Amino acid sequence: MRYSSFVDRIGGEGAEAWLLHNEAIKRRKQGADVIVLSIGDPNFDTPAAITEAAISALRSGDSHYTDVLGYPELRQAIAAQYVARAGLPWNGDNVAVMVGTQGGLFAAALCLLDKGDEAIALEPTYVTYEATIQASGARLVRVPQRAENGFKPDLADIARAVTPRTRAIFFATPNNPTGVVLDRNVLEGIADIARKHDLWVVADEVYADLIFGAEHVSIASLPGMAERTVTVNSLSKSHAMTGWRIGWLAGPSALIAHIGKLNLAMTYGIPAFIQRAAIYALTHDIPEVATMRAAYRKRRDIVAQRLAQVPGLRCHLPEAGMFMMLDIRETGLSARDYAWGLFEKTGVSTLDATAFGKSAAGHLRLSFATDEESLGKACSRIAAYTMTLPAVAQKHDGR
Ligand SMILES: Cc1ncc(COP(=O)(O)O)c(C=O)c1O
Repeated sequence: MRYSSFVDRIGGEGAEAWLLHNEAIKRRKQGADVIVLSIGDPNFDTPAAITEAAISALRSGDSHYTDVLGYPELRQAIAAQYVARAGLPWNGDNVAVMVGTQGGLFAAALCLLDKGDEAIALEPTYVTYEATIQASGARLVRVPQRAENGFKPDLADIARAVTPRTRAIFFATPNNPTGVVLDRNVLEGIADIARKHDLWVVADEVYADLIFGAEHVSIASLPGMAERTVTVNSLSKSHAMTGWRIGWLAGPSALIAHIGKLNLAMTYGIPAFIQRAAIYALTHDIPEVATMRAAYRKRRDIVAQRLAQVPGLRCHLPEAGMFMMLDIRETGLSARDYAWGLFEKTGVSTLDATAFGKSAAGHLRLSFATDEESLGKACSRIAAYTMTLPAVAQKHDGR
């Protein structure tokens, strides 16, 4: 049977990197001594009070269809966050409740982009962006952020990538995999480009609650940007709720009306009890959010400290999130070969960061979504394995 051309557009180049992760999960299930540093799923449970809110919603019969854009109370609670944190003049009409940040990204791509358009994405790019953007028929134009520049964007590179076909700029701040937080100057530069060329900006802020000290700026809050920015976020990372699939898209009310039609055609809304849990999460103080952030920071410091001394390795210290980019280029191996060698010899699974684009070649993405003891063990294994590599061993001996 024949399929539409859509199915080709939703494929992506990054798929190969996940083979190692899948193999690690398989072997772990079989009882092998495997430490999984290849995925960003928090190892924390969802805070109990949030789970209780969902349970009590179910017990009280909150099991019917809801508004396709989300409960007004939830939309309002989400808008209130942007009012309080970013000074944006938003209310519930500026918010659509979506199936995670991912649902927001996909909806944004479908409602903003057409066949023949180009959408710029800052690279390293979160793996799903390629298929998400291409699903719309638009072409993904990657703008590399170089390792030599700490994976920070160069505004001139972004400006050069704009053509008459460009419609939007997509980025995540903080970024996955690099952990880079875009500072106000860079965001002002991107805003200038967007205003000058009349572009949309799609800002993925899913790690914004996991910043370790840097300032988080929502680009929507910069002058003239609220009308051209789509901000996507969720409770997945901040509240350890990846499996709940609850997120949102915030932007101009006209866009939200279009998203309403898309939701009607595709999801028909988000489960009621999950929305009740989200309302609870956003309208109560949840101390676990700060506790988890502190835990990720501590894990980052442990990994950085343990690996900084290892010849052949260089850590990029993330400013946020749950990942670290490890530069392994001095080992003489490609990230793919290093990752497979490390896994086969030591059971530590990492992700070849080339999955996020060529600018991440020679880097591994390590996840901190595991306990400190396992992380410490993984670092020892990484260090030992690296020292066995000929390029490192020779250089080390020759010192
Ligand atoms: C940058 C980025 N955007 C979006 C997502 C998807 O998040 P959600 O679970 O909210 O759909 C992820 C998940 O890892 C991510 O890293």
